[in-house]
Amino acid sequence: MKSYRSDFPILEKKIMLSSCSQSAMSNQVMHAFKSYQDSLLVSGMDWDEWMNVTNAAKEKFASLINCGPSEIAILGSVSDCISSILHALPLATKEVVTTEIDFPCIGQSILAQQKRKDFSVSFIPSNNHSIPLEYYDEYVTTNTALTCIPHVSFYNGFKHDLKAVSEIVHGKGSLLFVDAYQSAGSVSIDVKRDNVDILVAGMQKYLLGIPGIAFMYVRKELAESLEPSTIGWFGQKDIFGFHYDKLEYANGAQRFNTGTPPVINAYVANAALEYILSIGVKEIEDRLTQLSQFTIEEAIKRGLDVKSPAFSKGSTTAIYCKDANLMEQLLRKDNLILSARKDCIRLAPHIYNNENDILQALDAIVYHLPTTNK
Ligand SMILES: Cc1ncc(COP(=O)(O)O)c(C=O)c1O
Repeated sequence: MKSYRSDFPILEKKIMLSSCSQSAMSNQVMHAFKSYQDSLLVSGMDWDEWMNVTNAAKEKFASLINCGPSEIAILGSVSDCISSILHALPLATKEVVTTEIDFPCIGQSILAQQKRKDFSVSFIPSNNHSIPLEYYDEYVTTNTALTCIPHVSFYNGFKHDLKAVSEIVHGKGSLLFVDAYQSAGSVSIDVKRDNVDILVAGMQKYLLGIPGIAFMYVRKELAESLEPSTIGWFGQKDIFGFHYDKLEYANGAQRFNTGTPPVINAYVANAALEYILSIGVKEIEDRLTQLSQFTIEEAIKRGLDVKSPAFSKGSTTAIYCKDANLMEQLLRKDNLILSARKDCIRLAPHIYNNENDILQALDAIVYHLPTTNK
């Protein structure tokens, strides 16, 4: 298969297995930074070009998840996205459900809104590194307005079957909010096929970009039935009409836009999404499935304590370490860039990684375990 390594200069010096946190920067992304810089240094100001690039990035994200560009809002982070949706829920909302494997910003935002809207909150537990489908039937009730799940868990890579979950929660009358930050770019996503109502993702992880921008899909009819209360002038129907005394929501998900979009982040997003789409998510997903299975097999051979499920997972594999932060620091000294979360060190390969990267990382983990597990 084609090697993509030469597109990522850092790989000459380091092994990057940290796509669950920050992936390696490509030459294409480096040029995108430069072209934004040039628009300031050479043109001075170029609003038309900035908006063209921002819209191009939005269109590419829309095609990545199979929806229309008017169903996408651009915000600064996944935390912004979930807060914006919770603000837009009716005051009479009775119940919101999430999971204990969602990224903390989801539960935290729900609890903050609970202070204003007085709904009940349930956290679905995990069992043996994953969440069995039956739990959705048990925890989501006919009172549930919104169910929030991660597509892929940030902690151990467990992957939900979105279609199966959406069937259950829709059967109870709940909307489905999917945090796809750990899957977008590495797992195929089709919001129409899987009947997802809201899906969010930032660019820093498997989308090969940087933080500071997040895309939020909201199904068109749903978006137009919601009246967001955290808003901005870029979410208005007539942005450049400058109506200081009129609130008129834009069509579709664009009503969730707030202020001036994060333009430099959009330049990077546009280049990074172009790169991902030129390879094709299916090709990336197939390769990462191989690398993920290889990681689990080799970790087990070395007697490591794997905290990821054997199947139904994304690229990330979590290995137990008592002091995972210390493990991350020790590996960094060996030029191995991996990311720790809680009690695990995570191996998160991307299309530019190979089996040898994984073997080197696993051997180094085995070497450092006596120090980190003291
Ligand atoms: C699944 C998931 N959701 C959300 C976040 C946080 O996103 P943000 O910092 O954009 O709010 C992360 C960060 O690691 C994540 O892995």
